[in-house]
Amino acid sequence: MANVTIFEHPLIQHKLSILRDERTGTNQFRALISEISNLMCYEATRDLPLTAVDVKTPMGICHAKKVKGRKLAIVPILRAGLGMVDGMLNLIPAAKVGHIGLYRDPETAQPVEYYCKLPADIDEREVIVVDPMLATGGSAIDAITMIKEKGAKNVKFMCIIAAPEGLNALKDAHSDVDIFCAALDDCLNEHKYIIPGLGDAGDRIFGTK
Ligand code: PRP
Ligand code: URA
Repeated sequence: MANVTIFEHPLIQHKLSILRDERTGTNQFRALISEISNLMCYEATRDLPLTAVDVKTPMGICHAKKVKGRKLAIVPILRAGLGMVDGMLNLIPAAKVGHIGLYRDPETAQPVEYYCKLPADIDEREVIVVDPMLATGGSAIDAITMIKEKGAKNVKFMCIIAAPEGLNALKDAHSDVDIFCAALDDCLNEHKYIIPGLGDAGDRIFGTK
């Protein structure tokens, strides 16, 4: 069964409150998305395996540990997922980055695919799919299905705000995928926007409204 982690760390909650504020402009919004993603990435990579190494310090040998060369891939769902990539690469600079283009049809709220480019060895990588918003769950479910169809076996999903509807749908569709959210909000409105949420994440990151 999928593990769901909702972050309660004070720094994440603080940054998220500023992010939600309608007065927060594009510049600061982008910076906050990146900072929150960085903090979440720290937790989402907690289970990376370690390997023993001997390090020669100026004082002698230290029996230490390093991350055991596990291959990682970050896959943002375009557009808004792009805002989370830099914050994660800060912590895991060797990760490869794939892209999946999906947008929600404004009439039906159903995801429409328009792009998919993944690392060639995606089947050998641990994949973290990122998108700030998990609303109905349709986009995340389709993106993860596409990634699994390319052979990936180990997939995690990270979002900033989830609605209960999307969280349940994602858990039902991909029960093997661990989910990380900075906040679980109340519900969706009649247009399938998250309440209270933060509005349209893509528009706020890219200043398109
Ligand atoms: C938003 C968001 C998710 C999706 C979530 O993208 O970034 O991808 O909606 O909704 P769902 O859970 O109901 O599928 P949007 O379709 O607005 O595209 P954009 O990122 O290009 O703005
Ligand atoms: N996509 C967004 O950007 N915001 C929502 O609240 C729902 C979907």
